[in-house]
Amino acid sequence: MRILIKEIINKEGESVELAGWVDVRRVHGKIIFIDLRDRSGKAQIVFTPTNKEVYELVQKLRPEWVIKIIGKVSRRPKGMENPEIETGEFEIQAENLEILNESQTPPFSLDNDGYEIGEEIRLKYRYLDLRRQRLQKNLKARHQVIKFIRDYLSEKDFIEIETPILTKSTPEGARDFIVPSRLHPGKFYALPQSPQQYKQLLMVAGVERYFQFAKCLRDEDTRGDRQAEFTQFDLEMSFVKQNDILDLMEDLYTKLVENLYPDKKITQKPWPRLDYDEVMKNYGTDRPDLRKDKNDPNELAFAWIINFPLFEEKKKDNGYFAPSHHMFTSPKSIIELEPQLTKSYQHDMILNGYEIAGGSIRIHTPQIQEKIFELIGFSEEEKAYFKHILEAFTYGVPPHGGIASGIDRFLMILQNEQSIREVIAFPKTGDGRDLMMDAPAEVDKKQLEELHIKIIKE
Ligand code: AMO
Repeated sequence: MRILIKEIINKEGESVELAGWVDVRRVHGKIIFIDLRDRSGKAQIVFTPTNKEVYELVQKLRPEWVIKIIGKVSRRPKGMENPEIETGEFEIQAENLEILNESQTPPFSLDNDGYEIGEEIRLKYRYLDLRRQRLQKNLKARHQVIKFIRDYLSEKDFIEIETPILTKSTPEGARDFIVPSRLHPGKFYALPQSPQQYKQLLMVAGVERYFQFAKCLRDEDTRGDRQAEFTQFDLEMSFVKQNDILDLMEDLYTKLVENLYPDKKITQKPWPRLDYDEVMKNYGTDRPDLRKDKNDPNELAFAWIINFPLFEEKKKDNGYFAPSHHMFTSPKSIIELEPQLTKSYQHDMILNGYEIAGGSIRIHTPQIQEKIFELIGFSEEEKAYFKHILEAFTYGVPPHGGIASGIDRFLMILQNEQSIREVIAFPKTGDGRDLMMDAPAEVDKKQLEELHIKIIKE
């Protein structure tokens, strides 16, 4: 029975079967060393000329070939230990070798962190890039973080609910990705920029405590901390005040860090809750980096920013207001008098200079919602676009609020990465291409005809 490489440290003197990839092959005189790699780690396998058949076979091996070996676990000779790897005090004396699959020479090396390799080639061969230990660690960390959040919230009586991907536009300020409908020629779905409207409608539905790890799609230019397709840990609660949401998230993220990242230190506990105006005055940005030592990779400076203005400072060209967060955010006072000066129940969570979550207490009366639509300059047609929400709100909507956290950004900081692409299994390039799948791509003429779509070439 195959065991995992990391298990050999408890098997001294025993014969074990291992399977995995050839990481590197080194020759020292007559002895050939193979570093074998599986999902649990690496181990050194030793081949000597005593077993002729195996010794001949091992000469053929090249990096990334898939092999199975049987051999005896022994302690390495004194001075030959490798403290860099978990199994470094042991090695395997190979008795049997089976080649399960050969491999072409990979286009880049996999036995290092890979930062110096061009991103185009890394993304084209992402399935190879992901074999490197750093990215394996990032994938595992992502799983652990998501699992921690899921367990914590389940414990607190939240339920996880999926919302549709084929939907109608949610205006979050970015451009929508749209999908043509075959059954309804000339009509389109939009991919969700976030589950905002659905989660509010779930509150109307009486769910009270919802969360989801939601794919969000925004057709905007990407950069280091931004992808067109990203993941939100999304949450909504009924019958809460703003502080209930902040307390819950703060407790969750603090416990998460303490449990999964014991080496990291949170700069200030409880996290500071800062006034938007103060922060802008003191730092000139609403997401200041509050670390005491910016060179310390293990410092986490969480903070809340609250008391945002309801609307952005400048009016739009057409003289109307633009919401600071989004149009469902509740004002803190009557808006009619001086909309420009009205504060809102928006809350942003910041960490080391990044905005890692944002949310608000929502408007839950159709009259105020309509007033906001008016102030942001919605025409009757645009208002009609939201008639489902306005209608739903006439059926007894509980006061509610929530937040959404960018899981990719959070992971990037926790894993000390510079780009969210390092913590996403299959990210897109800066200009939105999937180089491995070669997407976006042209589609068959027949597919277009079915969709009643004609491409106009410029
Ligand atoms: P917002 O648009 O502020 O709020 O998004 C919430 C969080 O999602 C992350 N984020 C992104 N991460 C990677 N790539 C992107 N392009 C990207 N855009 C946003 C950020 C951000 O803080 N529906 C509301 C939430 C609510 O009101 O509950 C929303 O989507 O970390």
